[in-house]
Amino acid sequence: MPNHQNEEVLLRVEHLCQYFKSVKAVDDVTFDVKRGEVFGLVGESGCGKTTTGRSIIKLYDITSGDIYFEGRRIAAGTKSYRDAINQAREEMKQADPARKAELKQFIAEQKNAMASAKANHKAQSCVTDIQMIFQDPIASLDPRMTVYETIAEGLRIRGEKNKEVIDKKVFDVLEMVGLVREHAGRYPHEFSGGQRQRIGVARAVVMNPQMIIADEPVSALDVSIQAQVINLLNDLRHQMGLTILFIAHDLSVVKYFSDRIGVMYFGKMVELADSDELFDHPLHPYTKSLLSAIPLPDPVYEKQRKRITYDPLAVHDYKTDKPTLREVSPGHFVHCNEAEFQEYRRQLGL
Ligand SMILES: Nc1ncnc2c1ncn2[C@@H]1O[C@H](COP(=O)(O)OP(=O)(O)OP(=O)(O)O)[C@@H](O)[C@H]1O
Ligand SMILES: [Mg+2]
Repeated sequence: MPNHQNEEVLLRVEHLCQYFKSVKAVDDVTFDVKRGEVFGLVGESGCGKTTTGRSIIKLYDITSGDIYFEGRRIAAGTKSYRDAINQAREEMKQADPARKAELKQFIAEQKNAMASAKANHKAQSCVTDIQMIFQDPIASLDPRMTVYETIAEGLRIRGEKNKEVIDKKVFDVLEMVGLVREHAGRYPHEFSGGQRQRIGVARAVVMNPQMIIADEPVSALDVSIQAQVINLLNDLRHQMGLTILFIAHDLSVVKYFSDRIGVMYFGKMVELADSDELFDHPLHPYTKSLLSAIPLPDPVYEKQRKRITYDPLAVHDYKTDKPTLREVSPGHFVHCNEAEFQEYRRQLGL
């Protein structure tokens, strides 16, 4: 059920790179999330989903790229500027005087842009409008803190001192997530997995954020509990007008919940489209392989279902014709080269 009432871009991630030494955890990822929508981010373990989420809430000084929230730049990396400056300096060694002057001017501009990126990144140190529900509810809750302290912590950090105000917010939010007041004095180990995840939801929601990044909020839970937590997020979404970036490693979880879906593979965004479009017309071979892994409660289909494996070296020829993220049909983006782009358009009948 695509949610197109509002097309306002709330979050924009532009050319995000997050490298850990030689590991390119996220490598040139661009997407936006519109106000009020659920954007699903999927891909196999290690493809960079959590790193993308953590970069957005500024747990890292990102390597390069820009992140905008409500039009404000909240995070920026500097590698692309440094690379451009180094390249220009290298060229300068052999340049004639006219070109040298141009390069000098270019370097000065890059330095200014880099200083402004650094200043923006530093100024927006605490973006409480975006809250994250962490992947591992056990590791992300401090075992020595009661539920009350866990939920109240963010409010205190934000500067709230009035105990009555904090009490009211904590007790209200406990109720909202399906827990009770009596739970406030207990410690994380006294709860079930599903309840712990509700504490994680409460800790995020109490800050009254505009956006929530839910990092595989249900994958550690029993199937029967998964639906409860998804329903809870869905209810909160409507009650609070939340925008959600929902991270999962398989498509079946995000299918009914997401308006749009982005598929990541090895640090890259390989396909991005409306949910229905992605399921009806998957184009990238990796998306097709993810779809082929979803079992359906249909014996005839199940009998014929063949798992497609994705072997990038066998299906892409990127030796000369290089891939980028291209818009194959309106709103449907695929990471592909020119030859693939033409082929995908043909497949869509364009
Ligand atoms: N702090 C870190 N230092 C070094 N490497 C890291 C760090 N965090 C993540 N990585 C690496 O970056 C890559 C992406 O990791 P990430 O946690 O973002 O994947 P993921 O898509 O969330 O996977 P999963 O589905 O298993 O949670 C992996 O190769 C991981 O080993
Ligand atoms: Mg993860």
